[in-house]
Amino acid sequence: MNLKSTLLAVVTIVLAMEAKGQVGAPQQVQTATRSASSESAQATSREGYLGDEACGACHQDTIESYHRTAHYLTSRLPAKDSVLGSFNPDENILKTSNPNLFFRMEASDGGFFQTAVEGVPPYVTSRTERFGLVVGSGGKGQTFLFWKGDLLFQLPVSYWKDVGWVNSPGYRDGVAYFDRPVNSRCLECHGTYFDSLAPPINRYGQTGLTVGITCEKCHGPGREHVQRFKSKSSGTPPDPAILNPAGFSRDRQMDLCAWCHAGHGNPILPTFSYLPGTPLDKYLELPQFDPDAPVDVHGSQVELLKKSRCFQSSRMTCLTCHNVHMTQKDPAAFSEQCLHCHKAESHPKIKQPVANNCVDCHMPKQKTNLIVFNWNGKRVSPEVRNHWIKVYSQDETPENPTKISN
Ligand code: HEC
Ligand code: HEC
Ligand code: HEC
Ligand code: HEC
Ligand code: HEC
Ligand code: HEC
Ligand code: HEC
Repeated sequence: MNLKSTLLAVVTIVLAMEAKGQVGAPQQVQTATRSASSESAQATSREGYLGDEACGACHQDTIESYHRTAHYLTSRLPAKDSVLGSFNPDENILKTSNPNLFFRMEASDGGFFQTAVEGVPPYVTSRTERFGLVVGSGGKGQTFLFWKGDLLFQLPVSYWKDVGWVNSPGYRDGVAYFDRPVNSRCLECHGTYFDSLAPPINRYGQTGLTVGITCEKCHGPGREHVQRFKSKSSGTPPDPAILNPAGFSRDRQMDLCAWCHAGHGNPILPTFSYLPGTPLDKYLELPQFDPDAPVDVHGSQVELLKKSRCFQSSRMTCLTCHNVHMTQKDPAAFSEQCLHCHKAESHPKIKQPVANNCVDCHMPKQKTNLIVFNWNGKRVSPEVRNHWIKVYSQDETPENPTKISN
């Protein structure tokens, strides 16, 4: 595809989304057209990237399974099935600790909207913004972003599983705050590509944005691979034209996951320019590994795993237990991985009933201190699986780990 047809394709996609009611305002399409032509340099740097549709022809099973994972669903355009909060009357209001402030969530043909209503009648003011982007698969929760021209901000009301609408994590209860800018690192971890036009830090081109974490985020640009293998009925791996992390060194495999699972870090090179298989420390400055530093369970699986004796005394990586092409939730299946290196029979403590659940005792779920929101006057925070594999004291683990029947 040459540049002109790329631009045409992008505009067509935006228009198609528009027709499905996913994007909304006509002026957004205009913005898209304008920034597409002025950001041709950026578009060129994404050359070679095709999108997931291009992989489906030959990797259909992988696509079907992968598109149900949290990675793929982690950012989406707002639509009926992507915004998980309820818009039904009675369920679409978030009251706050401030009797003169509530939020109302509404869905219409024009899109999805959040309104802050403040004051005492008849002296009431309100501010309405349209959902522009959904962040979070919803396994735990979702935060919503809105566009003001080409600037991206966070909405004050989020959705949390089993709770419903809540004040966005870190927001003060009882205040309507619409001014938190969304930086590119947030979108780098939760999406594939955004055209960052900073400054200010939250300015983005609205074309070429690729939501969700797609195949080429981890495998690199796919065009040459597709061209090569198209001419044959089936190619023979390895294909040097496509990155396969299975062939990376242990450090580069860890780097791939550390890109998003080792905390925020300080960017050294522009966001969205990292290519898997290259050293991450040239791209992102992450804190020096310190075995004694306290690490929160959220977003820091790499540091936590590195504290574990399992990791230090073996060649273990994240891929030892995880296949990112599918959803994995079954503790028994994970425990089988433990048994590749450990023996249940020689265990000093356990009796057979829990022998197939190693993880609830040695990788307990714990509350994070990094995602905290106010709800009904309470501080609520979700639980995340601790990746420091070790012996925990009794009060850190559940009293009766779930028995899993085989
Ligand atoms: C979050 C990163 C990530 C994403 C996204 C991703 N993969 Fe992979 N892929 C990997 C890793 C890591 C391996 C190596 C797996 C291993 O050996 O454990 C791999 C291996 C593969 C392989 C080699 C065969 C195999 O299973 O080992 C194929 C084919 C593949 N991926 C296709 C895809 C396709 C198609 C998509 C999109 C639907 C995709 N991948 C999305 C990380 C990813
Ligand atoms: C025209 C068919 C075709 C298309 C389209 C295609 N692939 Fe492949 N791919 C293959 C074949 C054939 C293999 C080798 C057998 C296998 O692993 O399934 C392969 C292997 C791979 C591997 C492993 C390579 C290795 O060296 O071990 C990865 C990773 C991969 N594909 C990713 C992708 C991604 C990402 C896309 C979309 C951008 C894609 N493929 C599109 C046919 C295709
Ligand atoms: C581009 C950023 C990025 C990369 C690279 C990445 N992840 Fe993730 N990962 C995320 C985000 C964001 C989430 C949370 C998704 C959500 O629920 O919205 C996540 C969630 C997960 C989950 C939880 C899935 C679930 O069903 O809840 C696992 C497991 C995981 N990642 C493993 C890995 C492994 C292993 C690697 C390296 C091969 C990796 N990730 C690479 C960003 C990334
Ligand atoms: C350094 C990468 C990174 C950055 C930056 C980041 N996140 Fe995340 N986020 C993750 C990972 C990884 C997870 C899931 C795993 C975990 O909790 O450890 C996650 C989880 C979430 C979830 C819960 C998803 C679910 O359903 O489980 C939401 C919502 C979320 N992030 C929103 C945001 C927003 C909004 C921003 C920016 C304003 C942001 N995150 C910045 C990596 C990141
Ligand atoms: C790739 C091999 C490997 C895998 C997989 C593995 N471990 Fe380990 N684990 C080790 C090694 C090696 C040690 C260190 C033994 C030593 O130093 O004596 C260890 C140590 C431990 C320890 C002692 C930790 C301490 O601080 O003293 C516990 C507990 C443990 N593993 C539990 C698990 C559990 C639970 C799983 C599965 C979730 C698991 N391991 C998976 C290799 C592995
Ligand atoms: C020894 C096995 C093992 C290794 C190695 C491992 N994980 Fe996990 N991981 C698990 C288990 C078990 C769960 C819990 C699954 C569940 O309960 O749904 C999990 C869950 C996760 C989650 C979801 C956390 C949550 O509570 O929402 C993320 C994210 C994740 N792993 C990322 C990683 C990353 C990144 C690495 C490499 C640094 C890694 N894992 C290495 C076993 C492992
Ligand atoms: C009911 C909680 C519980 C379950 C389930 C459990 N463990 Fe443990 N594990 C412990 C405790 C407690 C210790 C420390 C025992 C001691 O030092 O006396 C321990 C110790 C260990 C050690 C260190 C042994 C040593 O000699 O130092 C390893 C390795 C281990 N467990 C692996 C596993 C594996 C693999 C599984 C699953 C087959 C598992 N554990 C299931 C609680 C549990």
